[in-house]
Amino acid sequence: MKVAVFGAGYVGLVQAVGLAKLGHEVVVIEINPDRLKELDSGRVPFFEEGLQEALQEMILSKNIKFVERFEGEVNSFEMAFICVQTPSDEHGGCDVSAIEAVFDNLIELSFKNFVVIKSTVPPGALDDYEEKGDFELIANPEFLRQGRALRDFFQPERIVIGLKSEQAEVKMRELYKGIDAEILVMSVKSAQLAKYAANTMLASRLSIINEIAGIADVVGADILDIVQVVGSDSRIGGKFLRPSNIGFGGSCFPKDVLALNKLGEMCGYKSTLIKPMIDLNSRRPEMFIEKLKFLIDDLENKKVAIWGLSFNANTDDLRESPALKVLEILVDMGVQVSAYDPCIGIDRLGYLADRVNFCRNKEETLPADFLLVLTEWEEFDLETWDKVVDKIRMKLVFDAKNFLDRARIERGGLEYCGIGICKMDALDPGRSRLD
Ligand code: UDX
Repeated sequence: MKVAVFGAGYVGLVQAVGLAKLGHEVVVIEINPDRLKELDSGRVPFFEEGLQEALQEMILSKNIKFVERFEGEVNSFEMAFICVQTPSDEHGGCDVSAIEAVFDNLIELSFKNFVVIKSTVPPGALDDYEEKGDFELIANPEFLRQGRALRDFFQPERIVIGLKSEQAEVKMRELYKGIDAEILVMSVKSAQLAKYAANTMLASRLSIINEIAGIADVVGADILDIVQVVGSDSRIGGKFLRPSNIGFGGSCFPKDVLALNKLGEMCGYKSTLIKPMIDLNSRRPEMFIEKLKFLIDDLENKKVAIWGLSFNANTDDLRESPALKVLEILVDMGVQVSAYDPCIGIDRLGYLADRVNFCRNKEETLPADFLLVLTEWEEFDLETWDKVVDKIRMKLVFDAKNFLDRARIERGGLEYCGIGICKMDALDPGRSRLD
């Protein structure tokens, strides 16, 4: 099938390369000339596992092409996918202006086939365009996790399609024929709301487990045991329950949860649960610093090593990264920080670049008084800590994402500090601190 994909960001490029690998003829429309040039020469302008290799393979097989403008025989394309950004607007709602620009372009060109919205948009927000144009709208929300997006494309939990006509269903089933997953067909609005619902459910799971881990910290219980108990209840399930001392991040959860709240408000439903969840999550980096201040005397004058800055492992995305927020707060406090991330260069640090000792590998961040591991990159979970123990003066490793092997750290002669598994005597005022 011949398909056009608007937008070569994290979502669009994965969709385009995925469809090309399924054997479709894909043309990607990317308006940023620098990005376009890079893509044309087979370079992915961001890091996403396996994407670079897959892109080069598809360029060689001529299944994918990049252009600046959609023009010419546009109706030879059976589908146009919209994968452009939908950031938060200043009121916490969803800014759909980039999508509107694509629709205007399609209307101007008298595009007559299917327009598939992949971007996350509030149900009903773009319905007018169907009346203005001569095409049928389909909603096909993405559920890709950055860092494993290509795998998620080929092995999705499900494919969700919102549509109106039988013809649209036939086309979409044909498009995804090579993928072995259940296809859930529903109305456009339901598909669009389902995307917000999935992200809000996931974000609420993390919010609750983070709260419980905080309580485990102060009562001296172990969150790993608690997760095992809670997760073994088949009604709850054990996935996506790893607590984080600095909260969750990324370009989707905070933005989508706020947009859902705003959507409810605009339609006359006032949710009391959803927004506080995001407000609390955005305060978590500060709360983590408060915890550090409590545990470590004279924090301002310490030298701190940070491993990990991206919001998640296996991505170079810094959007809504709680790790970056922690770095910012420490630097603003005047703390001396050495930082490293496997995928992020100093050019990405903006105003922080001159104020941080930015390192090319994790070893270079040491010696330091203590170590903060803020992103769950596999390379940070050392096989043995013997080689670094002497370079961490206070013998303290903070695992903000509870993913490191605690036993190995302790065997290496270091003290492990996660969330909900810290030596919590330390949080009880009146007892000794860690320093
Ligand atoms: C999310 C959704 O998972 C995806 O379906 C949607 O399309 C886009 O938003 P993404 O934000 O890319 O994907 O990554 P995800 O792996 O979901 O992680 C989001 C955040 O939650 C990260 O900060 C991660 O560290 C955190 N997280 C995840 C936890 O703190 N604990 C967990 O158990 C899992």
